[in-house]
Amino acid sequence: MTPASEHTEAVEALLHENRHFPPSAAFAAAATTDASIYAEASRDPEAWWAEQARTLAWERPFTTTLEWEVPFARWFADGTLNASVSCVDRHVAAGRGDKVALHWVGEPEGDRVDITYADLLVRISQAAHALTALGVRTGDRVAIYLPMIPEAVVAMLACARIGATHMVIFGGFAPDAIADRVLDADARFVVTADGGYRRGAAAALKPQVDDALRRCPEVAAVLVVRRTGQEVTWVEGRDHWWHELVEAQPERHEAEAFPAEHPLFIMYTSGTTARPKGIVHSTGGYLTQAATTHRIVFDIKADTDICWTSADVGWITGHSYVVYGPLSCGATVLMYEGAPNHPEPDRFWDIIDRHGVTIFYTAPTAIRAFMRWGDDYVKKHSLKSLRLLGSVGEPINPEAWMWYHTLIGKKRCPIVDTWWQTETGCIMVTPLPGITATTPGSCTLPFFGVVPKILDEQGHEVPRGGGGKLFLKNPWPSMLRTLWGDDERFKKQYWSELPGYYFAGDGARFDADGYLWVVGRIDDVLNVSGHRIGTAEVESALVSHPSVAEAAVVGRPDELKGQALVCFVTLKNNFTAAPELKEQLRAHVAKEIGSLARPDDVRFAAGLPKTRSGKIMRRILKEIAAGGIVKGDTTTLEDFNVVAALQAQEE
Ligand code: WT7
Repeated sequence: MTPASEHTEAVEALLHENRHFPPSAAFAAAATTDASIYAEASRDPEAWWAEQARTLAWERPFTTTLEWEVPFARWFADGTLNASVSCVDRHVAAGRGDKVALHWVGEPEGDRVDITYADLLVRISQAAHALTALGVRTGDRVAIYLPMIPEAVVAMLACARIGATHMVIFGGFAPDAIADRVLDADARFVVTADGGYRRGAAAALKPQVDDALRRCPEVAAVLVVRRTGQEVTWVEGRDHWWHELVEAQPERHEAEAFPAEHPLFIMYTSGTTARPKGIVHSTGGYLTQAATTHRIVFDIKADTDICWTSADVGWITGHSYVVYGPLSCGATVLMYEGAPNHPEPDRFWDIIDRHGVTIFYTAPTAIRAFMRWGDDYVKKHSLKSLRLLGSVGEPINPEAWMWYHTLIGKKRCPIVDTWWQTETGCIMVTPLPGITATTPGSCTLPFFGVVPKILDEQGHEVPRGGGGKLFLKNPWPSMLRTLWGDDERFKKQYWSELPGYYFAGDGARFDADGYLWVVGRIDDVLNVSGHRIGTAEVESALVSHPSVAEAAVVGRPDELKGQALVCFVTLKNNFTAAPELKEQLRAHVAKEIGSLARPDDVRFAAGLPKTRSGKIMRRILKEIAAGGIVKGDTTTLEDFNVVAALQAQEE
């Protein structure tokens, strides 16, 4: 792990930012909350959370709020509820069934569907019956590998409805990555599609599942949505068409309530070892924080807002702010299937104008891509419906923030830069629109009850202005409950760095105003285009190639992607370093993990820089990858010639 002090330099650069953007009087006057909420919620955050939880539909009301036996939290544990009822049924029951829940926009132009809350309830009910007919029971895990189509939302909520724990796998993952997750979670059911549209072409999904399931003989049933009409191979008895099975089911389904701590879903994410971690989220606590943060952070007016979170439902952002947050609030969601630059780089702005999107939430890497494509694409559209913008996934560089503020928000929309993680489930640190003055690059202040601490190597609190490791002190409702099937790894991964504190894996600091600046990961996890990639996973994919003897993967700062993946590889004796082999290795990683992990750069080396005890010195590799001259302490380095050779072959 990199010592926190090494991040000081990066934070230093950020701290030269001193622009402040107070909320406009007009926005503040119309906002759903005002500054008094800080005092109110901070008086007793636990009681405040209990009050928020009561806004959901409970079958049996809870009487206890929090049971906390470090590191295991139980929120609202004696209450029972059904997440799909809180997200859908209760809005229909309240007479809001005709309100649009989902404006779905397919990638091919003109391909769109509007689904009301009443329609959504029918679809979820039918899917719940279909899953039951396939043998899915409460407590089973169901893998969902779908494009961004309405069935993804329906499948998630149908699982929730019958108490099956869903595990959504991002559609960009390769067969091996799918199989690893299905096996780890012991999922016996899969929901997928023939394919989905991406950049004007139909991309196949079913073959990836077929391939993955060769390693997963326990999978009993696969439900397949027909989206593109591509040819598919069929396993009789195992595979079922969605349109045949689901659409034939009864339109009403009696939902059962489950205990608040019942696992709603598992979301796999990368860590410091090659094996992805199955982050387990609860029902009551998770949904409470998803609903509350959605409502307050995005200033939701459920009757009029149209909320677009551009993330895929295959990631936590999609779970919390495409599905559970907005639907539990009864808001209208905009969901888009495809690429931001299809057919032209102004597709997003076209969608915003066409559908009157009011709240737009995206990632800095996307903002930087829009900047690169040019302002003219933006200026063709009015964007006048927008009233609030959000950012998530990585630190936003001040240039991108200013561009977002000026070109997209027309200087009138507050920007909420929200810090959180797959593990935290929901937003943790964020400005509140209409209340908090924002500063480009800072995610500003903790949400209620969240207590971030910046600590040094010895576990001492670092004074304001100083950089350190980011920890969270108190439990919060949507915190991960454990790693699927591995309490020990959960304890070790998050709670052993400083006992009693959750270790976030990020480096950060507070500025003089008490605003938080998150710099990025300080463990061996990279953030490439907002996707979290473990270097160990990529290394393990590389060494699975017959030519590779040893591999080390590091991040290199990249203007567009945030970080680029640079791989240093030593070859086995009978292989020669050749440009074709570089291409093969890049393709090999994409095939093993998915194209999101395709290395940007592969460099062959005769040896990797190691300490005398044989540990790869990543710090040196990072400096070489960044094109810098290796500085700092190299006294523990085993062989100086290795560094000289690596630097000499720089492109
Ligand atoms: C990591 C979590 C949160 C959902 C999407 C990513 C980085 C996230 C910010 C932000 C600076 C951020 C952190 C964090 N990160 N949001 N606003 N400012 N950094 O979820 O894949 O679990 O990644 O993303 O490094 O640890 P994830």
